[in-house]
Amino acid sequence: MPETLVDPLFRAFAAPAFTDRHLANLAAGTVAAVRVPGFLDAAACEAALGAVDRLPTGEYDAARVPTRIVRFGPALNDFRHSDGSLDADRYWVAAEAARVAWQRAGLRPDPIAVSLARLGAAWGAAVSPATIGGRPVFGGTLREINAGALIHYDDVNREYPNGVFDQDVVAQLAFNAWVAVPSNGGETSVWRHRWEPADEAHRDAYGYRSCTVDHVQRVTLGPELGDGLLFNPNNFHAVAPNPGEKRVAFAFFLGLTTTGQLIAWS
Ligand SMILES: [Fe+2]
Repeated sequence: MPETLVDPLFRAFAAPAFTDRHLANLAAGTVAAVRVPGFLDAAACEAALGAVDRLPTGEYDAARVPTRIVRFGPALNDFRHSDGSLDADRYWVAAEAARVAWQRAGLRPDPIAVSLARLGAAWGAAVSPATIGGRPVFGGTLREINAGALIHYDDVNREYPNGVFDQDVVAQLAFNAWVAVPSNGGETSVWRHRWEPADEAHRDAYGYRSCTVDHVQRVTLGPELGDGLLFNPNNFHAVAPNPGEKRVAFAFFLGLTTTGQLIAWS
């Protein structure tokens, strides 16, 4: 890509800790990604990985999600009626089951709690769960992605155009922390591209074909054990396959609300 066509602010950089400036820049959409090496220490990674076997995991519907992704914890996205409203009955059953299973798994330290506490400290106010009708949603998923994830974006305001939370979200961030990493593959790519209507001509299952991001600036990050990563998931992103080895990450979304709070959900 010619240098003149490169956005100098759209880059991924490593930092010793997340700061409020990182969060603000990611929310504003200028920075591509911020990575904190060793965000989770070896003990936390080990505890988390050990708990994976004690957590009930399911797989996505193979017809809808052709790449195999083993996951624990419900994602709001999977509980949408076709009219863009939440299938609340199904969601709350899954959310309560996940909460119970998470507590039973007894993760010490709990990587989600640790991560939320640190991000809250960076922001200057605690991160609270997003709520629906006053009820906190489930806020921590675990994903074992070995076969990659298609190019896609996440935007709660497009997924639920009439709103789903009690809070109004003006910017969304995605958080990931790796507790098992492959020696090859499994890179996360983030493109400097947000959804536009023309992209719909290039749908591929839950994602988009690569022509939507051809010639678009991107950053690519290899998974490193214990790393914490934040990026703005409104930008198209994907995960490369890592055949034969485990790639396990804890993940949740953060939302910056109209009142300047950070909320979390999955
Ligand atoms: Fe995503």
